[in-house]
Amino acid sequence: MTRSSAVAQAHPNIALAKYWGKLDAPGNLPAVPSLSLTLAGMVTTTRVTFESSLPQDVLLLNDAPASRRDTDRVGHLLDHIWPSDKRPRAEVVSTNDFPTAAGLASSASAFAALAVAANRAAGAGRSEAELSDLARRSSASAARSLFGGFVELPAGRTDEADAPAPAASLAAPEHWDLRLVIAVTTTGRKPVGSTEGMNHTAGTSPLYRAWLDAAPGIFARVRRAVMARDFEALGRAAEHSALTMHATAIAAEPGLIYWTGSTVEALAEVRRMRADGLGVYFTVDAGPHVKAITTPAEVAEVKRRLARVPGVQRTIITRPGPGAQLVESRPASEGGG
Ligand code: PMV
Repeated sequence: MTRSSAVAQAHPNIALAKYWGKLDAPGNLPAVPSLSLTLAGMVTTTRVTFESSLPQDVLLLNDAPASRRDTDRVGHLLDHIWPSDKRPRAEVVSTNDFPTAAGLASSASAFAALAVAANRAAGAGRSEAELSDLARRSSASAARSLFGGFVELPAGRTDEADAPAPAASLAAPEHWDLRLVIAVTTTGRKPVGSTEGMNHTAGTSPLYRAWLDAAPGIFARVRRAVMARDFEALGRAAEHSALTMHATAIAAEPGLIYWTGSTVEALAEVRRMRADGLGVYFTVDAGPHVKAITTPAEVAEVKRRLARVPGVQRTIITRPGPGAQLVESRPASEGGG
């Protein structure tokens, strides 16, 4: 039998300009451009082992066997990476050092780490841009976790539906030493997944058209603020992006409310901190947790005040981090191993 393996690590990213909605075309293309920050301090580690004797793909997520659906999603990306039609089955072992599938962007780091590890284990030799394009087909936000620091993912184009559409690095982590405090709030129930949530929004929300019209302009504001390192402009545009996205989802039928009481309490506390003179703004993804954008000088106070908001279970401080990286590789070997 033949076996080859590799291990990669990737970090989640948080969108400062949100992606919400897909093009009505194959290939999982985003309907709007997005801009994210890749986060140090939280990591997914993934080992991919291709092994010719395996009867089927195996996926272990945080030490437990994954569902058939998740295993098939992983297999799909491996099919695209393997250079020929006859792909050996693989064992994929993935662990997160942060809560999985809780609106903390675990699918982004998962598919980015998977793409990098699989590329090496398969000996496929694909470029970062090619891996970003492939990761995007599994989870659009994963395309951004291939790169470190500030990353943009353009909107897809219907006239070029099959052309590569990777994310691209806008600025390295060192460009701007921001801090992001994640306030992990109580979750009553599992939030509606992002694909299901955005398709439901696109299909039923009367505000969806307005979101498609507004998002490119908000993205441009976020991009300008990042390039100019203008903290207030960034914070205002990031809040506008998050609130416009949520307003659109709330207006779906039935409405998608990702927030809980403690989410709203935390948003109000961010606004109170600002009124008290602190430099802090918020963003929220398709889940109940609040992410506060702040500076190194003020991060300790922001964390202290968010931690005492009712329903906030814990806080995680993160900063701009690196892109997905290979950490170990074993080339193909023959025999009993
Ligand atoms: O790429 P997905 O399916 O993980 O969707 C991401 C959706 C948001 O996190 C809400 C926004 C974003 O741009 O990351």
